[in-house]
Amino acid sequence: MSESRPIGVFDSGIGGLTVVKALRDLLPNENISYLGDTARVPYGPKSPETVQRYAIELAEMLMKQDAKALVVACNTVSSVALPALTEKFPVPVIGVIEPGARAALAASRNRHIGVIGTRATIRSGAYEKALRDADGGVRVSSRACPLLVPLIEEGLLNDEVTDQMILRYLEPLIADDIDTLVLGCTHYPLLTSSITRVLKRQIMVVDSAQNCARAVEEMLDQKSLRAAPLNNGELQVALTDAADNFLNVARDALQLKIGEVQLRPLT
Ligand code: DGL
Repeated sequence: MSESRPIGVFDSGIGGLTVVKALRDLLPNENISYLGDTARVPYGPKSPETVQRYAIELAEMLMKQDAKALVVACNTVSSVALPALTEKFPVPVIGVIEPGARAALAASRNRHIGVIGTRATIRSGAYEKALRDADGGVRVSSRACPLLVPLIEEGLLNDEVTDQMILRYLEPLIADDIDTLVLGCTHYPLLTSSITRVLKRQIMVVDSAQNCARAVEEMLDQKSLRAAPLNNGELQVALTDAADNFLNVARDALQLKIGEVQLRPLT
């Protein structure tokens, strides 16, 4: 039995397209419905209660499209709203935190892991919890990097100013002797090359987008929810407000084919 219903993927805005790219590469047969809340982005500075409410609204919109699973392509939402989403919706819900934490633990040799993300993600302590639940002896150094999202959205992906900001944010983590860094925001994979350049020495960079895609693959297999092997997966992108320049930045950087973008205003 194959399952042609789409995987519903959502984010506070465009950043979650890094997860879509990883899903398209790994699962080309799957239909994907992406919903980005461009009307209310950014979520990073908002309270957990507000983020939970927004997340439920977006998930409801995707469920109306008959989503067979929900992928929370946003660390901020994953860090505060996963239990509420899992409880409310009758389909599998996959976030980005657990897969990222698992991959970091597998990569680390000295069991000292760095995590960067939005203020809300870091404040929630969700990565520390996921890491410590899996390995009681792990050391975690976290840092909120609120200026990285605006720099990415401005398209400054390979820019001196961005490199300087990255260095400033990462210096304390490097001094702390982390050997693995989790990119705990779905915008950050767009900065992988700058981050690798700035880190210089051997620090493993773990990308929550790719690890989330692997977790989705595992879940589809476990629940027998895979699309037919001959299906040519389609990607449908909808936003809650008009896209700004960042959609072009992401599309170009990710080399993602996006057809017509639908506008789906919040009611
Ligand atoms: N993409 C979001 C995340 O992964 C960050 C953007 C925002 O602040 O809404 O946390």
